[in-house]
Parts: sequence; C-alpha cells; structure tokens
Amino acid sequence: MLPGPKSRALAATLRRFESPNVTFLADDGSFPIFWEEAHGCTVIDADGQRYLDLTAAFGVASVGHTNPAVSAAIAAQAKKLIHGMGDVHPSRMKVELAQKLAEMTPGDLGGALFGTSGGDAVEAALKTARVFTGKPGVVAFTGGYHGLNLGALAVTHRADFRAPFAGLIAPFAVHKPYGEPLESLPESVGAVLVEPIQGRAGIIVPPPGWLESLKILCEKSGAVLILDEVFTGWGRTGSWFACEHEGVTPDILCVGKALGGGLPISACLARPEVMGAWGVSTGEALHTSTFLGNPLCCAAALAALSELERLDAPALARERGALFTEHLERLAARFPETILGVRGRGLMLGIQLSGAFAGELMVKLLDRGVIVLPAGDGDILEFTPPLVISEEEIQQAVQELAAVMAVAPSGS
Ligand SMILES: Cc1ncc(COP(=O)(O)O)c(C=O)c1O
Repeated sequence: MLPGPKSRALAATLRRFESPNVTFLADDGSFPIFWEEAHGCTVIDADGQRYLDLTAAFGVASVGHTNPAVSAAIAAQAKKLIHGMGDVHPSRMKVELAQKLAEMTPGDLGGALFGTSGGDAVEAALKTARVFTGKPGVVAFTGGYHGLNLGALAVTHRADFRAPFAGLIAPFAVHKPYGEPLESLPESVGAVLVEPIQGRAGIIVPPPGWLESLKILCEKSGAVLILDEVFTGWGRTGSWFACEHEGVTPDILCVGKALGGGLPISACLARPEVMGAWGVSTGEALHTSTFLGNPLCCAAALAALSELERLDAPALARERGALFTEHLERLAARFPETILGVRGRGLMLGIQLSGAFAGELMVKLLDRGVIVLPAGDGDILEFTPPLVISEEEIQQAVQELAAVMAVAPSGS
C-alpha cells in the first residue's frame, strides 16, 4: 500500500512551499502519506487508502480521531465564539476548563496557565518555578524531551535538536542520568523537571521509588518538582497521571497532547502557594499569548475530558494495554533475534529492537497499512494508539508486525 498518486503529488507541492527541514519527503515517494480523514484508530489518506494508527498522532487522539462528542462540541462552539480575549475579556469556556483541570488533576493542583503546545506548558512551568523559588537553576534528565521552543529546548536533552542553536539556548539546566539516584541538588537549583515515563527517549519506565526520591530531594532543598505529563497524562499509562502509580504529587504539572482531543491546547498547573507567587494581575499579564484559553480549544478540551471520563480512560489503557503487551511478548518470543524486550505501561508501549532499524520498520509497516513511530535512537518501535483501540485492531496490528519481523534485519 505505497503512497498513491495523490499523496505523491502533494509531496511534490509541499517540497516547493514548506520550509525544507520540516517534513521528510522520500526521494522515491515511499514516504509520507497525506492524511485526508481519520476516525477512531483508522486513518484514510488522500488516495482513499486506510491505515491503522498505532501512534494516536503523537499521543493526542486518546479518545479516537474525530471523536463524535469532540467534533460536535467544536462544531457547536464554532457557531458561537471561536476566539476571545484570553487574559482581558475571557470566554466562559476558559473558566469551565480551568475548573475542570483543577478537579481532574491530583492533590490541590490548579491555577491553570494555558498554552497551545506541550513546550508552552513546560516554559510556563519553568517561569512559575523561578518566580516561586527565586532560583533559576533546573535539573533535567538525559533523554528528556520537553519541546523545541527555545526555553523548552534548554531542558530537552537530545544533542541533534540543540547543536544548530548553540549560543541561543540559555544554560540554566543540567542533565542528570534518568532513573539513577540523585544525591543532592546544587544550591542554585530551584526546580527538578522530569517525565514520569520517558516517551521520545524510548518508552523508559524509571525504577520504582525513583520519582519519590526526587520529590523528597526537592522538599529537602526547597526546590519544586515539575512533572511533564504532556505525553503520559489523561489515562494513557493506566492511571489518570503516571505520577499516581508512584504515589507522587508534583508541585507543578504540565499537560497537553490528549487534553484538546486534537485541538492545540496545553496547561501548566501548580499548588496554590506556588502559582500564587506570580501575584495578582494589575492589568498586564507577565505570561500570556494571543490565543491563551482559546474558546474553541477549551470547548474541545472539555468534551475530550468528558469522553475520557465516560470511557474510563485509565481502565481502558490498562485492559487494552495488557492485551497488547501479551501479544507483543509472544511476538518477542517468536523473534528473539530481532525483539530484545517489551516495555512501557498501559497503552504507552515499546519494543526494543536488536538494532537501529525502527525507521525501516516504520516504512514497511506503512506499506502494510499500519502507522507507527520510531523512538529512542531508532532502536525502539513505539506504540501509543488511541485508547479506544479494539481487540481486533490489536490483533491486526500484531499480525502485521509479525509479517515485517519475519523479514526484518537482526542485530545492528
Ligand atoms: C513529554 C513531552 N513534553 C513536551 C512535549 C512537547 O510538546 P509539543 O510538541 O506540543 O510542544 C512532548 C512532545 O512530544 C513530550 O512528549
């Protein structure tokens, strides 16, 4: 099922009109396909070919693509109010969503600072930590991915994302080994920023108790713990937030991706004392943007959150995740030379390959009608499907995986 003529024509046009480093367009036309429609876990491309989405499009479509309740909420809101004045004359939807976020997140987290991307939420968290603690230093972790805006890039670890911008990235963060014990925090450090399970680094679950040890370290030194749950949040790992598996409540929480049901919205939440450090607005917000708390995005988020509640997202992720894991483990037993292990939690799963050929598998699977993404150093194939993936779809996914594994390279 190679990209058809319409996808190929769109690729040729995009090559002329988009900045060249953004979309990978294979010279032989074998990648990418251009999406036209998507429903549930099914994507239909410009040529009418159907694909099974095992990515939820970067972990966003947890309630399924074009979830009917989310689509209806967007359509209804679009007839009433699309854009408001976020920090001046806000919309009712912003109020409702801020309240809902406080209700659904752990502990007494609240005081939403809205953004449009995960990177925005991380930057709002870094500023909040600085305002509260008075200290600019941040401890982040090897492999950490927090977005590519300049502030977020300062805490994102991957060298290939950072190198071209040397000199532009503020040097306030140090990166410590992910999952390894941390003895103490330097005096200048006001915040520890961490993903409770690393996503793009390759679905890495830290040892039990590690998050708690960071929380204790923060408490001892007066620093705040910022959890980046942009990927792991909203049920994906089998609890509403991944930190709940570990019984840890952060001082600051970043959420995004699945929050908007497909529309771009994110938020940073904090304990009242921490968020209160910003002080009360006297007429000029210190941190805002044109689209802050956009009513259309807020309406979509409210509908997506209701759907996640109605579906019992954490239970779905646990149940479907257990089934998917079982199949993947059987697959690993069948292809021990190629698959070295299965890891993850809920429906945030990955298989460790014996070499860096996840990219190759991605193209082969696309040809068989399955959309996946590589992670880690190209040695992890990542599975973060919509939480509504059915048993039949999981079986289909595993069948196609088996077909490509049978001809996959083994070893690096
Ligand atoms: C854990 C985590 N934080 C932040 C981000 C950045 O989000 P965005 O791409 O919406 O800026 C991502 C994106 O993958 C992520 O996985």
